[in-house]
Amino acid sequence: MTQHLAAPTHTLDGTRPGWWRDAVIYQVYPRSFADGNGDGMGDLDGVRSRLPYLKNLGVDAVWLSPFYASPQADAGYDVADYRAIDPMFGTLLDADALIRDAHELGLRIIVDLVPNHSSDQHEWFKRALAEGPGSALRERYHFRPGKGANGQLPPNDWESIFGGPAWTRTENPDGTPGDWYLHLFAPEQPDFNWDHPAVADEFRSILRFWLDMGVDGFRVDVAHGLVKAEGLPDIGGHDQLKLLGNDVMPFFDQDGVHDIYRAWRKILDEYPGDRIAVAEAWTPTVERTANYVRPDELHQAFNFQYLGTAWDATELRSVIDLSLAAMRPVGAPATWVLSNHDVTRHATRFANPPGLGTQIRDAGDRELGLRRARAATLLMLALPGSAYLYQGEELGLPDVTDLPDEVRQDPSFFRAAGQDGFRDGCRVPIPWTAEGSSYGFGSGGSWLPQPDSWGGLSVEAQTGDPDSTLELYRSALAVRREQPGLGEGDAVSWLDAPEGVLAFRREGFVCTVNTTGKAVSLPAYGQLLLASAAVAVDGGRVDLPADSTVWWAV
Ligand code: NOJ
Repeated sequence: MTQHLAAPTHTLDGTRPGWWRDAVIYQVYPRSFADGNGDGMGDLDGVRSRLPYLKNLGVDAVWLSPFYASPQADAGYDVADYRAIDPMFGTLLDADALIRDAHELGLRIIVDLVPNHSSDQHEWFKRALAEGPGSALRERYHFRPGKGANGQLPPNDWESIFGGPAWTRTENPDGTPGDWYLHLFAPEQPDFNWDHPAVADEFRSILRFWLDMGVDGFRVDVAHGLVKAEGLPDIGGHDQLKLLGNDVMPFFDQDGVHDIYRAWRKILDEYPGDRIAVAEAWTPTVERTANYVRPDELHQAFNFQYLGTAWDATELRSVIDLSLAAMRPVGAPATWVLSNHDVTRHATRFANPPGLGTQIRDAGDRELGLRRARAATLLMLALPGSAYLYQGEELGLPDVTDLPDEVRQDPSFFRAAGQDGFRDGCRVPIPWTAEGSSYGFGSGGSWLPQPDSWGGLSVEAQTGDPDSTLELYRSALAVRREQPGLGEGDAVSWLDAPEGVLAFRREGFVCTVNTTGKAVSLPAYGQLLLASAAVAVDGGRVDLPADSTVWWAV
């Protein structure tokens, strides 16, 4: 049911070459951003109506999580038709209008591409199942006979990232138990077989479809997962959860993925206006992440090592140095990210004791978490490279940790028996107004309940309040635009600083970060530009408040 678009496509005029090297890119999670039609679910019209807010916030580009036709088994990361918009989000005409409006405002649009797996409701998969064993369409996925006398055991020992086996057994058209198919995520997300030329062809065509629509780039979902090791070998008695992210797995970060991105880069380069792709590649090291952004591959890769770093000066300095050093040889900008739709928001995470990882939620100490989150954001925005923001972090939103089980929708909550893996807490619709239906999210409530505290954290409540987190973000992004070269370059010069404090110099600029719980006296480095907490400069010295960052013009 591909929709057809009559209107001509659109590109952003006046593109600054290399705009993405220092861009601040704001992630919109469409179902939770703004609801245009009052059905309790965010949509493209809602996003479109809030573009002026994003312009005013001061970001360069907007990355939209998936809005394609999907049964929503994994909030849209299970795509049934890559060229159609899910009716719950709107139509292709709405997408076109959104891209045009964004470009009018000088904002770029990046869309999510999900090439590792489709939905089980994708035409190919439905037909592959219906046609039974021997169907040529089954070769586009990973179908295998089971092990054991009656094929009753999965073909190998891989586990789904959401918990349970990575294989589901099919039923033959005659009702007998059949082959198994691979799904690294939910059973509703069968993995494509990227060795099949039809899969590669289809995705090159999908890229062109959206480039023709005028999008400025793609965020590539599970970019490290497309190619599986030949023969789909067992992991062999290891605890997969412990290996994930620490070791090369037979289904992640295989060298063959890079051929795919070389082909994609050629397509992106054919289009005018510096179109980009950013890899969601969870690799064991920043060096392996750098492989995805070699000059003939993708443009950026998320820096998950940075996202996973605790609020600790030594660890932060080390991950910053490692990230910059890893990107330098390939000439790609470093990227920085603190929150997204898969992890505990940093305002909650930083209130947890260190060492708990990115998925663990706790009600924690709200005030401490927010103080550190504000400081962490100013640190991130002072680093060379491109920064990603996740909707609502500019409001200092915490994770919602007390959602009742019956409202949860994250498939990992249902499959990850005993693990604290659910992600709904960072996906609660964001508050726009201090009062009213779903705090201005829309006129028809919200698909996940919002806490009572949401009104006080709304855009309306924070706008104009100089102490608010929203105004801190606005000021920081304004300074970043005005301060020549703040996002440019590939290095920082560290200055001597007491334990627990970071200080580094950039051209005409110094950033000081106090990660300790106590104020620290330092020389004032120059003229105070911005601070994440109230700070007074006295006689050439400053008391850097606990858990704070200060920007200086020097
Ligand atoms: C990564 C996405 O960010 C996440 O939300 C999704 O569940 C998985 N990929 C599977 O597509």
